[in-house]
Amino acid sequence: MKRLRHRPGSIFFLVCSFFVLSCNQTYYKADHIDKSVVAHRGMVVSAHALASEVGVKILKKGGNAVDAAVASQFALAVVYPRAGNIGGGGFMLIRTEEGNYSCLDYREKAPGMANKDMYLRPDGSVIDSASIFGALAVGVPGTVDGLISAWEKFGQIRDFGKIIEPSIEFARKGFAISQEEADRLNQYKNDFQKFNPFPNPFVKSKAWVKGDVLIQEELAQTLERIKIKGRDGFYKGETAKHLVITVQKSGGIICEKDLEEYQVVWRSPIETKYRSYRVVSMPPPSSGGIALAQLLELIEPFNPGALGFHSPESIHLMVEAERRVYADRAKFLGDSDFFDVPASTLLDSSYLSAKMKDFDPGFATKSSSIQSYDLPDREHFETTHTSVVDKNRMAVSVTTTLNSNYGSKVLVEGGGFFLNNEMDDFSIKPGFPNQFGLIGNEANAIVPAKRMLSSMTPTIVEKDGKLFLVLGSPGGSTIITTVFQVIVNIIDFEMTLDDAVDQFRFHHQYLPDKIFIEKDGLEQVVKDNLQAKGHDFGTYERIGLVKAIRVLADGSLHGVGDRRSDVDVEAY
Ligand code: DON
Repeated sequence: MKRLRHRPGSIFFLVCSFFVLSCNQTYYKADHIDKSVVAHRGMVVSAHALASEVGVKILKKGGNAVDAAVASQFALAVVYPRAGNIGGGGFMLIRTEEGNYSCLDYREKAPGMANKDMYLRPDGSVIDSASIFGALAVGVPGTVDGLISAWEKFGQIRDFGKIIEPSIEFARKGFAISQEEADRLNQYKNDFQKFNPFPNPFVKSKAWVKGDVLIQEELAQTLERIKIKGRDGFYKGETAKHLVITVQKSGGIICEKDLEEYQVVWRSPIETKYRSYRVVSMPPPSSGGIALAQLLELIEPFNPGALGFHSPESIHLMVEAERRVYADRAKFLGDSDFFDVPASTLLDSSYLSAKMKDFDPGFATKSSSIQSYDLPDREHFETTHTSVVDKNRMAVSVTTTLNSNYGSKVLVEGGGFFLNNEMDDFSIKPGFPNQFGLIGNEANAIVPAKRMLSSMTPTIVEKDGKLFLVLGSPGGSTIITTVFQVIVNIIDFEMTLDDAVDQFRFHHQYLPDKIFIEKDGLEQVVKDNLQAKGHDFGTYERIGLVKAIRVLADGSLHGVGDRRSDVDVEAY
């Protein structure tokens, strides 16, 4: 491994004295982060330089985009513990070199013992944070089945060991953490201690600082069991036992049967034509594909490109589309295996054009007179997207999550990995906002074995039948509007990928009835104009963290990692 460093005898040994280490102990370090790279053969854009590098090494060894994506996902589970995971779930959109699409749903599921009122008191009031923190917030994880299923179906490197070994190495030998990881680990120290009253690698007496080495031996052992036994190394035997004991000891309800019965689903993607481009994305249980297709179709007749970039007119148009689409999301979207999602109606052009009948270029439509919610103070949310393209132009767009940073904050004792808090993505009570302020209804109510509605929007765009763009983002409810705006920036405002990703972003989700803008992102004169139309504003520190690859006119690849965080592009 290129960046394997020798660790000198250091203060680290005093801090983590329970490790017996020699002065020659080695660890991994990401020594650079590239934000914008043009290359000819293959590329991986992910949240962590070590994970991007693992993916590119796999490509260089003859692996395809799926091999690289799967290897980098396992690596992220180690080097990006706040969102990379084996205790969560995700969605993967794959485009083969022939241009065929496959859509893999490895979203978490409600445990068999879950029920629609599980977060309510007998009087119907919501139990504070029960769907957000602790073992009851955990959905049955799908990541391991997802990654293995993708690799089994599409992978070219037939030795699974080669795919998973880099992650085992990172976990066992350790890696130097970034400033961002140090900040997060310090921020959540109390939660880690509260939910995990046992020694674990994420808690130490002194504050974490950049460059500290994080070693995860129990996670290395879990990954080794997966390497040897495949999915049974996670869903059965020792790992499953650790998981179930941890969850049940802390008041959760996941049992062995839930794990044994977990299965991914291969689904048909959602697609739409936007101007001359084909946009392909994720179907339910993600709302991402339907919402993105609706947004693009709603604005297309108004020719946003002619309205001026970030002009009051173009922002107003896009916000009014967002308001209408998120209203549909709240009412009609949920897991289509359990609820009859009216997808074809929602994407029908006459339905969509009727939606904009009351659009007034001069005035904001009020979202609702029924009830309005304020978003809770936004903690740093994390999810993570990875984009991969190989030399044959096979592409993978994959978004995975634990939901919040480090999920439920519950760490599997003896297993070494965090568990998600994805149950909060269900509508735990009709009309009650989740941590992203999203509301829902029957469509997204809790039912045993059902998948919770997501906003993750792994997307691929084609131009003239050829691969054009691979992209996605974290950001909870803002994922959809982030992907939407990057696509519009490229197609309508004719921006380079760097510019399209860098521009400040805005977001409206129907309720709360506000345009959320990135801090300092909007000129006062534009804001005044929008206010005069009747819009209110809220601010977010940042909206989205895009990882994208664009195929340039000469066939080369341009990868961009969002300047908003440590996203890294590796290529060859
Ligand atoms: O699936 C979803 O929509 C959410 N659980 C995603 C969470 C997220 O993106 C958090 N952070 N950035």
